[in-house]
Amino acid sequence: MHQQSLQQIPRLVVLLSGGGSNLQVLIDAIAAGAIVATIDLVISNKADAMGLVRAHKAGIETRVINHLDFGSREAFDRELMHAIDDKQPELIVLAGFMRVFTAQLTHHYNGRMLNIHPSLLPQFKGTNTHERAIEAEVDQHGASVHFVSSELDGGPVVLQALVPVLELDSPRVLAARVLVQEHIIYPIAIKWFCEGRLKLNNNAVLMDGHQLPVTGIPFQS
Ligand code: GRF
Repeated sequence: MHQQSLQQIPRLVVLLSGGGSNLQVLIDAIAAGAIVATIDLVISNKADAMGLVRAHKAGIETRVINHLDFGSREAFDRELMHAIDDKQPELIVLAGFMRVFTAQLTHHYNGRMLNIHPSLLPQFKGTNTHERAIEAEVDQHGASVHFVSSELDGGPVVLQALVPVLELDSPRVLAARVLVQEHIIYPIAIKWFCEGRLKLNNNAVLMDGHQLPVTGIPFQS
């Protein structure tokens, strides 16, 4: 592969609210040279997010934008967009960001914002996915990387990791097994995007120019 010049290196902005283990694997993948990109800013809506500590340790600029400081969802999203656009990122990575966006924001970042969701979308959108998967007695659960659209957890799917649900699983045990897979598939999808291989075109996901099925590429490790 030819050497990318500094100007061509994709800039990423990461949004999170909590632990930031997905941020950490991204930091590690970039440090290892597996992904050629820079994380120019990490934004959290929670000042005590562990993800901010991880960013500081890696020397990444951080900002706290607390949704409680804003009178409306629109005003919060406007501030987010301002902070993100200031960095002119090629890609915005949602890594456990626990706020619902306005349509203005999702429209603004159409095709350049990825999320990871702990279920096999379109199953179990929203929260408590592991509890709901166990209650529904599904055999297969997992995680999905998808482009963000105005529908919560409803954007076009890129990659899905399948995780079996075992008989004695608690939500906690299942969540831990799913998280291991998240840490594998999210860096893969981000790498594809950064290399220009992954694109969104008219709401269809293109990988190397070929349209993916609606449930994306299945991944089983
Ligand atoms: C992950 O389970 C992810 O799927 C969901 O939020 C969680 C974030 O975990 N969107 P972490 O903060 O990256 O550890």
